[in-house]
Amino acid sequence: MQQAAQGLAKGAAVVFRGLRQVYGTTVALEEFSLEVGAGEFLTLLGPSGSGKTTALNALAGFIEMTSGHIAIDGVPISALPTEKRNIGMVFQNYSLFPHLDVLDNIAFPLRMRGVPRRAARERAQAALDLVRLPEYGRRMPHQLSGGQKQRVAFARAIVFEPRVLLMDEPLGALDLKLREAMQLEIKQFQRQIGCTVIYVTHDQGEALTLSDRIVVMDKGRVLQVGTPKEIYDRPHTRFVAEFIGVNNLLPVAGGAAGEAVLEGVGAVAAAVPAGARWAALRPEVLRAAPGEGPIAATITDVIFLGDVVRYAARCDRGATLVFSQRREPGGSAHAIGARVAFPIDPADIVFLAE
Ligand SMILES: Nc1ncnc2c1ncn2[C@@H]1O[C@H](COP(=O)(O)OP(=O)(O)OP(=O)(O)O)[C@@H](O)[C@H]1O
Ligand SMILES: [Mg+2]
Repeated sequence: MQQAAQGLAKGAAVVFRGLRQVYGTTVALEEFSLEVGAGEFLTLLGPSGSGKTTALNALAGFIEMTSGHIAIDGVPISALPTEKRNIGMVFQNYSLFPHLDVLDNIAFPLRMRGVPRRAARERAQAALDLVRLPEYGRRMPHQLSGGQKQRVAFARAIVFEPRVLLMDEPLGALDLKLREAMQLEIKQFQRQIGCTVIYVTHDQGEALTLSDRIVVMDKGRVLQVGTPKEIYDRPHTRFVAEFIGVNNLLPVAGGAAGEAVLEGVGAVAAAVPAGARWAALRPEVLRAAPGEGPIAATITDVIFLGDVVRYAARCDRGATLVFSQRREPGGSAHAIGARVAFPIDPADIVFLAE
């Protein structure tokens, strides 16, 4: 234990090292290693069953790990019970105590830590002010809306000034509009209190909006860690490229030196890295000019998305490319059946080996 601790990075608020979690024949986490910086907002993003909740549960102490190490501020926590780990938690189902009023709900973690009732309620009121519900202390949970309950749950999670705040799909139960409003609030709250957040979602837009860094997971493994921009612009694998946003993924079918032949599209002058099997092209970087060209296509679909219009075009060589354009005032939109040509800029292509 001591020996393992010595190798753990200093400066990181949370370090996961080589976590493995097995349930019977299911491997929930495998070689899960990660460093979370102090004050960082880090999001675990991945499909259902990819191990996101398991990673939080291991950190919170709800499960005993099969193997691996976790440290907070350089201190191994495996031997510490949940309540000694100084971690706040918010989950999808608000889990407020129905028989306690809002203020007592928020004060609960302080009371558990031996803070006298009066002082606890005072600090709870300050947390309630932070989440902008100053007048709601006397209400019972059933008298609150979903968004209000979630803000109370947030206040309860931060009232004891935890070192790390874990949030597992905290906005999952809210409708889209409220979810977007709450995303901005969560970000503001976090800036105000400055604590380290590990956030879980399978909503990619939410991850891009909130995070300093995103960890893309699949099948219990970390696939890529990076800023939202890195993950979006420079995915390392096909899975990451397809998981976040819309992407055109085209098999690379060799070609002469200095040239990439994109299957179903045509040849593009590009320096192709060794081992490249796929070319990924974001719809918003792809340009289409009316008329004919070496890479020509026919518009097959026009989808109006408000500020942008998304098009699908079938290339003469067979592939369908999706591209989007900002809506022009006066509208120079392409109609279904129109002919377009793609001048593909090699700088916009992300080549992927797997
Ligand atoms: N207590 C358990 N017993 C058996 N298997 C479990 C247990 N907890 C999780 N698993 C399995 O471990 C894997 C990872 O589960 P986990 O809950 O971490 O996924 P997740 O990424 O949080 O998914 P979701 O997005 O659906 O919440 C899944 O295959 C799940 O079925
Ligand atoms: Mg989960």
